[in-house]
Amino acid sequence: MSRTAGTHDLGTDRTENNGRTPMSTPENTRLQAVFNDLQPTIEDLIIKHDVTQEEFQQAIAFLQDLAEADELMLASFFYFGWGVIMANEGRAYANPEKDGASTYVPTGPAYVPGAPLLERPYKLPMRPDEPGEPLLVSGQVRSTSGEPIVGAEIDIWTANKAGDYSNMTREMIQPMDFPLDESLPPFNLRGKMLTDDEGRYEYWQVMPGIEWLGLREGGPLDGFFKKLGRVEARPLHIHAIVSAAGFHPLTTQTHFSDDPFIGKTFDPRTTPASSVYDTQLHDDPADFKARGLDTPYHTMTIDYVLRPAAPAV
Ligand SMILES: [Fe+2]
Repeated sequence: MSRTAGTHDLGTDRTENNGRTPMSTPENTRLQAVFNDLQPTIEDLIIKHDVTQEEFQQAIAFLQDLAEADELMLASFFYFGWGVIMANEGRAYANPEKDGASTYVPTGPAYVPGAPLLERPYKLPMRPDEPGEPLLVSGQVRSTSGEPIVGAEIDIWTANKAGDYSNMTREMIQPMDFPLDESLPPFNLRGKMLTDDEGRYEYWQVMPGIEWLGLREGGPLDGFFKKLGRVEARPLHIHAIVSAAGFHPLTTQTHFSDDPFIGKTFDPRTTPASSVYDTQLHDDPADFKARGLDTPYHTMTIDYVLRPAAPAV
């Protein structure tokens, strides 16, 4: 590269982009917009909490520890992935308080497509000796205007009593690492069903178990969970994708109001109050025997409210 002649030799040619001058590209404009918001947001937080030099350095050192332990990506997912998902996949169900739509809760890593379409009376596929207390789930699928949705498809998947999902491989859960029960039959506790002429559905499953996150014990992320007083697990939940022609598909999870883990797991916002439902225990022998059961059972009512998709223009 030739240098321009002149009395002040700046060591670079200012007439060409030599990598030191700003480049205006759409990507850079986007980066500038986000970073120019990020900087004062973090600065406000630092000032609000009187963060000291020492605490700031500890935070940077913690990020370095996460990176060295190969846990930076996982930590980013746990603590900031929620926002990214809500800004993208969850956008169609943002602000459910506006119209009473159901709450979007992310799919999670255990979803697999292709679950069988079940036949009535509905019961999720399960082993003959499937451990766990029986749970009868029923409810209605309707639109935000209150109309029942006939023939809506509800795709359910849930962990078994031990907290394991069927159809899972080690690759699917990386970088988490927890024991997998690979002996489960395919599509155990996974299935699809359709709503009836009143938009209603009813099916049997078993009460789900605790889904642990599989963090490396003693690692920086494990230590951080403990310092935050949060549990390295998900609250009990049932996953669902509810879809019907003319409506945005809804991905959600239902949580249990008597679960002590509510609000104490990796991110309390992943269990919004509107996704938490009561269960009723039915322990009268005459009642459960009449249903062909030899143990008490639980019931739960979950209504799913879908938003109409915007008409094509
Ligand atoms: Fe799950």
